[in-house]
Amino acid sequence: MEKKLKILLQYSSKLASEKSLKKVLLYLTDLAKDIMEADRCSIFLYDKNKGILWTIVAHGVEKIEIKADKGIAGYVFKTGEIMNIPDAYKDPRFDRDVDKKTGYRTVSVLAVPLLDSKQNTIGVFQVINKKGREKFTEEDVELLRHIALYASSIIENAVLYEKLKKAHEDVIYRLSHATKFKDPETQNHIIRVGLYCEILAREAGLDEEDVELVKLAAPMHDIGKVGIPDRVLLKPGKLSDEEWEIMKKHTIYGYEILKNSDSKLLQIAAEIALEHHERWDGTGYPFGKKGKEISIYGRITSISDVFDALTSDRPYKKAWGMKETVQFLKDQRGKHFDPLITDLFLKNIDRMFSIKRELGDVD
Ligand SMILES: [Fe+2]
Ligand SMILES: [Fe+2]
Repeated sequence: MEKKLKILLQYSSKLASEKSLKKVLLYLTDLAKDIMEADRCSIFLYDKNKGILWTIVAHGVEKIEIKADKGIAGYVFKTGEIMNIPDAYKDPRFDRDVDKKTGYRTVSVLAVPLLDSKQNTIGVFQVINKKGREKFTEEDVELLRHIALYASSIIENAVLYEKLKKAHEDVIYRLSHATKFKDPETQNHIIRVGLYCEILAREAGLDEEDVELVKLAAPMHDIGKVGIPDRVLLKPGKLSDEEWEIMKKHTIYGYEILKNSDSKLLQIAAEIALEHHERWDGTGYPFGKKGKEISIYGRITSISDVFDALTSDRPYKKAWGMKETVQFLKDQRGKHFDPLITDLFLKNIDRMFSIKRELGDVD
């Protein structure tokens, strides 16, 4: 008992600070395996949209999906009954497909339903092959029921957190693209810029929290375009000097929209909106800031935004390939772009191009 308590305390401190659902599931899996003295453990969660149960098999291994009414997990999910089976292959409900896929031999199985705070079944908690014994005992059943209760509340929180995070991202991407009817840039352009910036920020040694923030802040770089009058924003062909001065103001308008927030995300986004057209050599706008007067966020976004424009089709040009893009970045190293950030970009050029390829322009 003391050993079990120790295991529980060990994992609960890890779980308390963990927000990623995947990691939470892996910790809970390990926790149950250790406490239950089982060879394997799977947590199946119900995916309402797909009508399936899914599980992460082990660290790093991809997800396994099963039909929600298949196998022992499916039966427990459907009926809410606890199943304690000494030999799975003798039970007609057992589905051998997962064993076939993983090359594993299941013998004893204990599976209990996972209930959320409203008593809805959200999945199944299953342990397999009791170590050193033929089957799971009544005491094991009680123990797993309690672990499942504990796990449910943690899983519920992690799922909620992921949903919020997704909604948050979605709102940012959509609002950043509020000029979609007037601006030729696509929604994927702004998402890609965020992804290039994420790589650069990590390579530049920013901490993980900042890396995440830059990824979401950079997509807002052109949000100030909503303030540019249609006669300028929609004008085909070259802008007059007067019109160009108006166009440049999108940086300041973006800053005005985003500034003075308590949120660090919006503080970074405001800086990026203001600085994404500044240049390392001081020839950019709106202020002609030079070198490190431009924040790291502005410097990272500037090169990412230009890279994406170069490698995209435009009415007046075809998308550039690897060779000419690399040449351009090298030429602009220390002129348009921060030399060190340029080096980091070039070091990761293959990853940048694969983001560009995988997230093409659809709208
Ligand atoms: Fe811009
Ligand atoms: Fe852009």
